[in-house]
Amino acid sequence: MATAAASEARFDLALSDEQQLAQRTARDWARERLLPLAAEIDEKGEVPREIVREMAGLGFMGIDVPERWGGAGLDMISYVLVMEEVNRACASTGVVLSCHVSLATAPLLQYGTDEQKERFLRPLATGERLGCFALSEPAAGSDAAAMRTSARRDGDGWVLNGTKNFITNGAFADLAIVFAQTDPEKRHKGIVALVVEKGTPGLTVGKLEKKLGIRGSDTAQLHLSDVRVGDDHRLGGVGEGFKVALSTLDGGRIGIASQAVGIARACLEDSLAYAKERQAFGKRIADFQAIQAKLADMATEVDAARLLVWRAASLRDRGERHTAEAAVAKLFASDVAVRAARECVQIFGGYGYLRDFPAERHYRDAKITEIYEGTSEIMQLVIAEEMLGDAPA
Ligand code: CAA
Repeated sequence: MATAAASEARFDLALSDEQQLAQRTARDWARERLLPLAAEIDEKGEVPREIVREMAGLGFMGIDVPERWGGAGLDMISYVLVMEEVNRACASTGVVLSCHVSLATAPLLQYGTDEQKERFLRPLATGERLGCFALSEPAAGSDAAAMRTSARRDGDGWVLNGTKNFITNGAFADLAIVFAQTDPEKRHKGIVALVVEKGTPGLTVGKLEKKLGIRGSDTAQLHLSDVRVGDDHRLGGVGEGFKVALSTLDGGRIGIASQAVGIARACLEDSLAYAKERQAFGKRIADFQAIQAKLADMATEVDAARLLVWRAASLRDRGERHTAEAAVAKLFASDVAVRAARECVQIFGGYGYLRDFPAERHYRDAKITEIYEGTSEIMQLVIAEEMLGDAPA
């Protein structure tokens, strides 16, 4: 880490005009267009393609991709501002956006050749195509290097075989960043990252998972059976795939942390509105100190989580190492989201338990932020390893 350096890392809390514009654009669109649809998206289990097209029109799908490659050319801070607003309205839509931006466009931008950027990144950045990230497997989640999907050299290309699990956007994505093992004995040093496009023979979508929350986003299995791709689909060197995956997840964890801030803010704002309206014992429940304490704690934690997200995003914008800071932000923000959601249900009381109110959706949506893109326990491990790695001998 970084511990000392990171905690002292300077970042500007004042948002630039451009960042404020991104925030306002996302806030207005999310409030007017997305929020009214959130319950229906959850109920039907689908984020409408029209919503993804609208996000593309607003520049969100390629927000931090340079204009040269079809993106909006903004920075990571702008991305987390947009993510907070989208997730404040609808976490299902938020994860569709975050997996596309953080996990599909980011590795193409970081590791792709100019030719790969033109061919694969541009249509993702414009939102014409949707991306996903295929790392996890049925028997390899936290221990990502234990993956069994194989990549065998065949002439000047690769043949892929295996099954990927828990792939957000998996059913609808036009393109997947697939990680596979070239030599199991080499563990992480044998992994290769390959771009696989929808329609490639042998690539099929398997089971669609039924989930507790973020029900509008699709979570699918992907089967690869003798899938052939050229070597011009490879991102990074042979054996560098694990580095591609983990450095991508550093950015992805900032995205999920901002999702958690958005969910926690939804809990706070919905609780506040309800507490000012609901009467008990002859007054508003907002007038009871027990409720005020909950609201005050939620507000404090949302602010603290946001600052950690901004710190990590700012380090990434400056091209500095941010592995630990991204993990700190995700660990803390996801915990805040889960706690805020629990308090939100509690403040709504019996109504909090009903599908007619948003509290129970926040409660279901918040939990996944402690699991995907690295569990809280993996975040602790990453933070500890980064600190210990820095410790003087
Ligand atoms: N960036 C670049 N390289 C990194 C890195 C980083 N952040 N962290 C580690 N590495 C490198 C190391 O330097 C090391 O390389 P060398 O051998 O060349 O030095 C190599 O990676 C292996 O490092 P470790 O020995 O620490 O690896 P490990 O096998 O012990 O695993 C781990 C480390 C932190 C547990 C890692 O496996 C991990 O993060 N697991 C969680 C996986 C995860 O987050 N999965 C989420 C799935 S994606 C998802 O959820 C998407 C979705 O659809 C929502």
